[in-house]
Formats: sequence, structure tokens, C-alpha cells
Amino acid sequence: MPEITPKKLFIETLGCAMNQRDSEHMIAELNREDTYELTDHLNEADLILINTCSVREKPVSKLFSEIGIFNKHRKEGAKIGVCGCTASHLGDEVIRRAPSVDFVLGARNVSRINEVLHRPHAVEVDIDYDESTYAFGEYRNTPLKAMVNITIGCDKSCTYCIVPHTRGEEISIPHALIVREITKAVRNGAREVMLLGQNVNGYGRRFGAGAGEDEPRDFTELLLVISRIDGLERIRFQSPHPLHMDDAFLHEFATNPKICKQIHVPLQSGSTRILRAMKRGYTQENFLERCAKIRQLVPEATISTDVIVGFPGESEEDFEATMEVLEAVRFDQMFSFKYSPRPLTEAAEFTTQVEDAVAGERLRRLQARHNEILDEVMGAQMGRVHRVYFDELKSGGRIAGRADDGKLVFVEGSEELLGQIRDVEITRTSRAALDGRVV
Ligand code: SAH
Ligand code: SF4
Ligand code: F3S
Repeated sequence: MPEITPKKLFIETLGCAMNQRDSEHMIAELNREDTYELTDHLNEADLILINTCSVREKPVSKLFSEIGIFNKHRKEGAKIGVCGCTASHLGDEVIRRAPSVDFVLGARNVSRINEVLHRPHAVEVDIDYDESTYAFGEYRNTPLKAMVNITIGCDKSCTYCIVPHTRGEEISIPHALIVREITKAVRNGAREVMLLGQNVNGYGRRFGAGAGEDEPRDFTELLLVISRIDGLERIRFQSPHPLHMDDAFLHEFATNPKICKQIHVPLQSGSTRILRAMKRGYTQENFLERCAKIRQLVPEATISTDVIVGFPGESEEDFEATMEVLEAVRFDQMFSFKYSPRPLTEAAEFTTQVEDAVAGERLRRLQARHNEILDEVMGAQMGRVHRVYFDELKSGGRIAGRADDGKLVFVEGSEELLGQIRDVEITRTSRAALDGRVV
């Protein structure tokens, strides 16, 4: 048999977990037609893919300078493809601005990677395309944990957000496909699944062609179905929307032993007035009530959040309302950003944009206070015992894993701990991670 020389693929993935999963899907699809090997060296790659994020302006402006660098260093005959959310909303403008790009593939069209690869200057960015029942090939970055999409797209219209314009309308994936994919991952060694969607707890509102008669009615029912999968031990999900955190869902979260006690409750702003302008659908009061309910049902749960500061019209008083929520909930993790005006969004047209210096100062204040809270939260972990799933070998004889509540934990150890779930006593704490020893 003639020896096959694999092609080399350089892939850069920006943005959220959905993009990471899309990158896995593209790698799987490419390998259906050819044999690809991943490389970290741009100059040896036959194919260079940039899987872009559009949620804020900065990565988009960096994209074009990056394409210039990639073009300069690419080997003779190598192709460059721009994929993902920025591809979706810029479409053929990518090639007009950067003619060295060979193809553009939208975030909702990743199953068509082999098609665009062979069409010079192809642009495939149809956001109405329904990939919800497409059977992707099999590829995962690690066999130990599986990311599995449960919905595609987003049906909300948060006024700051470009995602509905890059990923199209929300469609739920039939439960049989989800179960099949998780079962396969479990058979290949995964003990944990991360269910992905822009609003996971909006699951079940609309299915595409190929759905059965007996689909779960909502996310809570889907969780019940998934937790019956043999060999699956841990279920995580990302991201739920505060508006759809009904009592039945919180009850399932609290009582189902397979569901990890970590929940993302994206706040965005603590001011009811700003929340209304953002079209988030909840008030400060609703948000606080839901978080209090989570703390009451599962005191050990970690609550993470996303905050945007400097949304158009945000006054000092509005910002103080966000600080109030921070004090009340004491989030275990917070991702905070300065508001960034995005094309195609309503808020970009608002005439009350907040000065950059003001937003920057508020972001610093918010993060400084959050760091103080975090020091206390993490400091209190000293001596506690966490159940940790080890999934990553580190240098210096260390191995890392995640506690049930999502905290990053390091211990001394080697391969034999990989894929194991063990009790770990915490012996050292820092803001970002914990150190401990297996007990
Ligand atoms: N569907 C998820 C969010 C996806 S976008 C949810 O509703 O929580 C991820 C995060 O990026 C958002 O939670 C928000 O905090 C942030 N984000 C979105 N658009 C933004 C913008 N225009 N400027 C700054 N941050 C933004
Ligand atoms: Fe964007 Fe809102 Fe949809 Fe999240 S729910 S992706 S913030 S529009
Ligand atoms: Fe994700 Fe960025 Fe798109 S956050 S959905 S990759 S715009």
C-alpha cells in the first residue's frame, strides 16, 4: 500500500465553547476526505483556518492584520480559510479586504468545509442553513470530556449582541441525536459532558426537520433523559439564561447527582433600567431572587456570571446597581467586559454611548471588588475536600482537573490519575486555582 502523507492543519479558535466545538467538527469533516494532522507551526501548514469571534470589536480588527501575517508566512500552495462568527457577518467583505483569503465559511455552515475548500474564493455564510441534524464526523480534542451541542443559533434579541446575526435562529437538536453522541463519547472514554447552546434552558421550543414525535418539552426533561446514559457521570451546561430558570429546572439542578453544581447566571447589568434597554427580560429583583434560590437549594454551588459595563445610557447610579448585585450574590467567577458597539445591533445606534474612559474606570472598580470577593471565596476552600476529575497533564509532575463545582485543582501526579475522579484535600489556594493532595 502506498504510504499516505497526512496534510497539516493549523487552526486558531477564538471565542466561546461553541466555536471550539465547531473547530472539532471541521477537523472531523476534513478528515472524512483526507488525512490531516494538527500543527502549531504556521509555515508547515497546508491549510490554515481561523475560527473567528465577533462578539466584541477588538478580535475583529485584529483579524485582518493576522491574515496579513499568516499570508506572509504560509508555505507555497497553502490555503487560508476564515470561518466562524466574523465570517458570518462580513461574508465576501473578508475577501475584498484580504484577497489572500481562499474561502469564507460561516458559523452555521461548518458542515460544508470540504465543499468550500475546493471552490476558489468560496463564500458560504447562509445563517438560515439548518445543521441541527447533520451527522458530523467524530473528532474530539480530548477523549475524557465531550462538548455536545443541544441547540444551534439564538432567538433572543439582546440589543448589544451580534450572535443572533452570526448564528441565526434557535433550533433544538433532536434528543436521540444528542443521546447517541454522548453515548459514543462515553464509550470512547468520556465521563463528563458539556451541553452547549446560547440559551440551553430554552431547549425544546423549536426543532428542525428530522425531529421525532416524542422530543423532550424543555431542558429539564432533556436533562432527565441524558442523566440516564450509563457510564456518564458528570453533566455541565453552558449557558443558561436567567429568564428561563424556572423552579422545575432549579430543582433538577439541585437534586440530580450527575449535574455538576456549577451554574452560569449571566447578569449583564444590575440596573433594571439598563436591563430593559438591553432587552434581557428580567429585572434586578428577579435576578437576585433566582440566585438566592440557587444558594438556598445548593449552598455549595458556584455561580458565575457575565457583566457588561458602559452600555449606552449607563449612569453612575446604574453602575452602582451592578455593584449591588455583585455584593449580594458574591459570584464565584465573573467575566466582565466593556460594552463594544457591534454592527447590526440595536444598541450600536443608541446616541447615549458612554465615554471609553468612564467605562474603563467602572470596569476596573468592578473587577477590583470582584477580586477581593474571590480572594475570600477561594481562601475559604483551604482544607476542604473536592471531588476532582483529572483531565490534563501539566509539566513538573503535576496534573490538573475540575472539581464538581468547576474549580481548577492541581495535584502532584502522573498519567495514572488521568481520567480518574478522586477526592482531593485542598492545601493551598489562590485566586484562580487550588492545590491539593489526593486523599
Ligand atoms: N448566550 C450567552 C452569551 C453569549 S455572548 C448569554 O446570553 O449569556 C458572551 C458574552 O459576551 C455575553 O454574555 C456578554 O456579556 C458579552 N457580550 C456580548 N455582546 C457584547 C458587546 N457588544 N460588548 C461587550 N460584551 C458583549
Ligand atoms: Fe446574545 Fe442575548 Fe443571544 Fe446571549 S441570549 S447570544 S447575549 S442575543
Ligand atoms: Fe461565540 Fe464569539 Fe460567536 S462568543 S457565538 S464565537 S461571536
